Amino acid sequence: MKGILILFLLCSMVGSFLAQDYEWGGSEAGQANKDICVTDSASCGCCLMQQRMQRLEWIFNHTMDQLRKDLDQASKRLNDLRASHTAFSAALSTRTECMGPFRDNSTLIYKKVFVNQGGAYSEQTGVFMAPRSGVYSFSVTVFSDAGAPGARLSIFALLQRNGQDLAGVHDDNYDDQEDSATQSLALQLQAGEQLSVRLVAGRVVCDDVSHYNTFSGFLVFPTDLP
Ligand SMILES: *[C@@H]1O[C@H](CO)[C@@H](O)[C@H](O)[C@H]1NC(C)=O
Ligand SMILES: *[C@@H]1O[C@H](CO)[C@@H](O)[C@H](O)[C@H]1NC(C)=O
Repeated sequence: MKGILILFLLCSMVGSFLAQDYEWGGSEAGQANKDICVTDSASCGCCLMQQRMQRLEWIFNHTMDQLRKDLDQASKRLNDLRASHTAFSAALSTRTECMGPFRDNSTLIYKKVFVNQGGAYSEQTGVFMAPRSGVYSFSVTVFSDAGAPGARLSIFALLQRNGQDLAGVHDDNYDDQEDSATQSLALQLQAGEQLSVRLVAGRVVCDDVSHYNTFSGFLVFPTDLP
């Protein structure tokens, strides 16, 4: 009972205060309030107070909705990024062997896979296919052994994009028995574009358990985010 009395008093006090300071003109509710305010200043105050609280609640609700939407979008993007993790690295062979010389230019198939996150590299075909549009980084290292000192050695392989030559890895050397060369570059790719390494006809590459021949690539960042 005491509580109700205090509330009533509070309402009357706040009511007279609000009735002076707030104009709710324009809307129908505003007009109704004015009518009440003329006849009963106590309920006028409570009513204005309630309106104000409702407005605050509406702002609060609206802000919460917006925050919820932003959070949803952020977690969708994060999941999307997590799902698009793409990185591969593979060496030519797991044993001591040379490949070539072949009569035709042929795609090198790197069989020893260190990592193939996202499965975009195929160890059956040696081809990496970009799962989504983005900036990718690639590197190719080739190595060869002439078999004996003084024997002619020249390695030549090409990084290819959709079957077209992109960048060469080349070393021509008569002085020593072994040669190695590396090429690395960043590329803007569209989803579905293919990268592979071609051994040029007549050239040889050699590998063993030390993995001197490698082909690696990874997605640096996607460019197809909404
Ligand atoms: C605010 O949200 C609550 C819970 O969804 C709802 O019950 C209430 O009516 C909303 N208030 C306003 C002023 O929109
Ligand atoms: C192999 O590729 C090289 C370099 O692109 C080219 O010059 C040559 O004609 C090609 N050889 C064959 C047999 O296709």
